[in-house]
Amino acid sequence: MVAARNKNAESERLKEVMEVITRKLHEAVKEIEPTQQEWFEAIMFLTKIGHMCDDWRQEFILLSDVLGVSMLVDAVNSRRPSGASENTVLGPFHVGDAPEYAMGHNICLDQKGEDMVVRGRVTDVDGNALEGVKIDVWQANDEGFYDVQQKGIQPDFNLRGVFRTGPDGRYWFRAVRPKHYSIPDDGPVGDLLNRLGRHPFRPAHLHYIVSKDGYDVLTTHIFDPEDKYLHSDSVFGVKEGLIAEFNCIDDPASSEQVGFDGPYWDVEFDFVLAPKEV
Ligand code: BEZ
Ligand code: FE
Repeated sequence: MVAARNKNAESERLKEVMEVITRKLHEAVKEIEPTQQEWFEAIMFLTKIGHMCDDWRQEFILLSDVLGVSMLVDAVNSRRPSGASENTVLGPFHVGDAPEYAMGHNICLDQKGEDMVVRGRVTDVDGNALEGVKIDVWQANDEGFYDVQQKGIQPDFNLRGVFRTGPDGRYWFRAVRPKHYSIPDDGPVGDLLNRLGRHPFRPAHLHYIVSKDGYDVLTTHIFDPEDKYLHSDSVFGVKEGLIAEFNCIDDPASSEQVGFDGPYWDVEFDFVLAPKEV
């Protein structure tokens, strides 16, 4: 047996991981009974995934995403106390050096799209406001592209920014209503989805990383409830508790107060951080 050969593995964990993976893989081969040609195709599929990877593109993570594995790994690693906000996938479009802005700043740098205010409060699980929370947000534009996918078309750092809560735990910023978009589907993962009769779209969302020392980092999204892909996200990232409300505010006094000329979308979403497990 293969497992017996691994008895001198450098760690118990490696031995256990390889034992399970080998056993499950053997089970799959016995059940599927692939032809030599099919097994070769499987090897070539993984080879193409590797060739597609570079500093900007991680096709293996994309494969893990569309197989629902990324969400499963997240689920087994973020068992949170009840009431704490839920995690979802990070995705490939986060950048580490987005500018930090004062509350209320408009992160849409090219004025394209439907105006939106996003606001809320960050608390601990007992409802106490948290001060000094770093709120790192990023989103696609109203055509469904991130700035990093449209260098030279969108301004750098369009629709991304960092905000820090004050003593009341509140945050607010201005942006534009995001659109659904396709995950990168010009590689082997896109081919696979196509051959499986699956679409590559993600429902419209905003990404957040909400963090403060002493608390679990919250990597999450908020979703547009009206998006047609809400119940068929290609990467299985939607959770009921992350669906926001988008309310249209058609009131000149309110628009003036937030610095817009006309109607806008108002999205209120609170976050609850869980204490860091020691
Ligand atoms: C995203 O939401 O940015 C994303 C997540 C997983 C795969 C591709 C994109
Ligand atoms: Fe996204």
